[in-house]
Amino acid sequence: MKPVPFVTLWWVLLLVSGLGATRKGSPEEASFYYGTFPPGFSWGVGSSAFQTEGAWDQDGKGPSIWDAFTHSGKGKVLGEETADVACNGYYRVQEDIILLRELHVNHYRFSLSWPRLLPTGVRGDQVNEKGIKFYSDFIDALLKSNITPIVTLHHWDLPQLLQVKYGGWQNASMTNYFSDYANLCFEAFGDRVKYWVTFSDPRTMAEKGYETGHHAPGLKLHGTGLYKAAHHIIKAHAQAWHSYNSTWRSRQQGLVGISLNCDWGEPVDTSNPKDIEAAERYLQFCLGWFANPIYAGDYPQVMKERIGRKSAEQGLDVSRLPVFSLQEKSYIKGTSDFLGLGHFTTRYITERNYPSRRGPSYQNDRDLVELVDPNWPDLGSQWLYSVPWGFRRLLNYAQTQYGDPPIYVMENGASQTLHCTQLCDKWRIKYLKGYINEMLKAIKDGANIKGYTSWSLLDQFEWEKGYSNRYGFYYVEFNNRNKPRYPKASVQYYKKIVTANGFPNPREVESWYFKALETCSINNQMLAAEPLLSHMQMVTEIVVPTVCTLCVLIAAVLLMSLLRSQS
Ligand SMILES: *[C@@H]1O[C@H](CO)[C@@H](O)[C@H](O)[C@H]1NC(C)=O
Ligand SMILES: *[C@@H]1O[C@H](CO)[C@@H](O)[C@H](O)[C@H]1NC(C)=O
Repeated sequence: MKPVPFVTLWWVLLLVSGLGATRKGSPEEASFYYGTFPPGFSWGVGSSAFQTEGAWDQDGKGPSIWDAFTHSGKGKVLGEETADVACNGYYRVQEDIILLRELHVNHYRFSLSWPRLLPTGVRGDQVNEKGIKFYSDFIDALLKSNITPIVTLHHWDLPQLLQVKYGGWQNASMTNYFSDYANLCFEAFGDRVKYWVTFSDPRTMAEKGYETGHHAPGLKLHGTGLYKAAHHIIKAHAQAWHSYNSTWRSRQQGLVGISLNCDWGEPVDTSNPKDIEAAERYLQFCLGWFANPIYAGDYPQVMKERIGRKSAEQGLDVSRLPVFSLQEKSYIKGTSDFLGLGHFTTRYITERNYPSRRGPSYQNDRDLVELVDPNWPDLGSQWLYSVPWGFRRLLNYAQTQYGDPPIYVMENGASQTLHCTQLCDKWRIKYLKGYINEMLKAIKDGANIKGYTSWSLLDQFEWEKGYSNRYGFYYVEFNNRNKPRYPKASVQYYKKIVTANGFPNPREVESWYFKALETCSINNQMLAAEPLLSHMQMVTEIVVPTVCTLCVLIAAVLLMSLLRSQS
């Protein structure tokens, strides 16, 4: 027999049987772990205020540093896009809650806009009652739908006046303004909100806002600004936690934590001590920078050593990394009721063995090189490669480094950069399946993971990338002024994981994939052109069944001829 019919037969059988086909996958696929999550595990999706709400100057909201940054022009955001309207979420509350219900999630993680509640940023100046009412109604609507709110106090949109007047996070007094704001939120919403996140990904906020200038407020204070900003953010976090602990906890019985984003850093050569050290350094500069003060009372030793040494080499009297006093150390230590983690991708890390060219910077302080494996699927982004095993390693690392804290995954997801209206997001399904499975393995390894937040509910404003990166379960047509939402295939898939609380067995999990893709092609066409709808109905009602029947017939014929040729 010639090889070709064999191939054909194989494919036809694969198409027809679908579920039964066992392909030889990568080692990772081969080690797929079937099982379910602990009872009570919380599934959710997330978003942030600036990325979705729009209504940037409505109902008394003050401007944020991101409003100023996007309005300044000068090519700061791809395509000079703004988030003035974004997903128009401020006016779409009821619709978006329907989308959340459709996903069957247990929780929704979103952020409050500080300048919507306090237009100048200062509680003593003015409280915007319309802002309070907006979030209050939203929280009520979520609870009515049995969805637990997980509320972030600050997701990057600092009130512009705090920046202009006081220098934003460069100023130590920001801790008091934040604490006042936090107390207002605990007071107004804490009777109903039991999960608080003080800051979301403060590392990016400090690094891109005060070092590279890619984010608002766009400052380039190389090698100093980011450490100072982080220092004040950590203190502000601790102060808010203490406020909650001493004033609100007894009445409200909630939890307050922080959410830290970090990619996994894997040594290029696991037998080379220099690479192992470099990878460890990568993680300490990324996660340890914030987590170590909060869990152990001070910055990681390696940061203090490196930045101190390099500062001395520059002729500075004191380290560019600020120092916590003994009192501050004990005040900050232990100020997180859970560890929030954001994670998207992985890097290979190796020691940098060439001298740095430019002056002081975060990059030069770390002395390492980040690499990617060209075989990793990249989903169209230069940053986000799908490497599920890195997630398990990061979760295990966090467990051992910080004394087995309760962990909530606060962000994890995949973007698509293509502009086309592609709702059949097979790549996101693959990413979700892989990453969630590695999280399940981490739980089996012993990590105390309580919940998972997939990022994000909607396609939204992606900071300096404008609307070019789409992370949403729901596609948003930004060109249409009504900003309509369309479900991608991953909605159906995630919903199945949520409902089954994991991956019960191969047969069922495989069927989810096919069912998810059935719906999306129809939605795809609806989005592309309404007039095509009738055509599509013909395709699903006539063409699909015909093709399927034909496939079965061909398979049967080929199978018979195969059996005959073998006998
Ligand atoms: C820091 O903020 C305070 C107000 O809280 C202000 O008086 C002071 O001038 C600010 N410092 C700088 C350097 O802007
Ligand atoms: C948190 O509050 C409780 C009850 O008031 C108190 O006993 C405890 O010492 C506080 N924790 C910290 C670290 O201050």
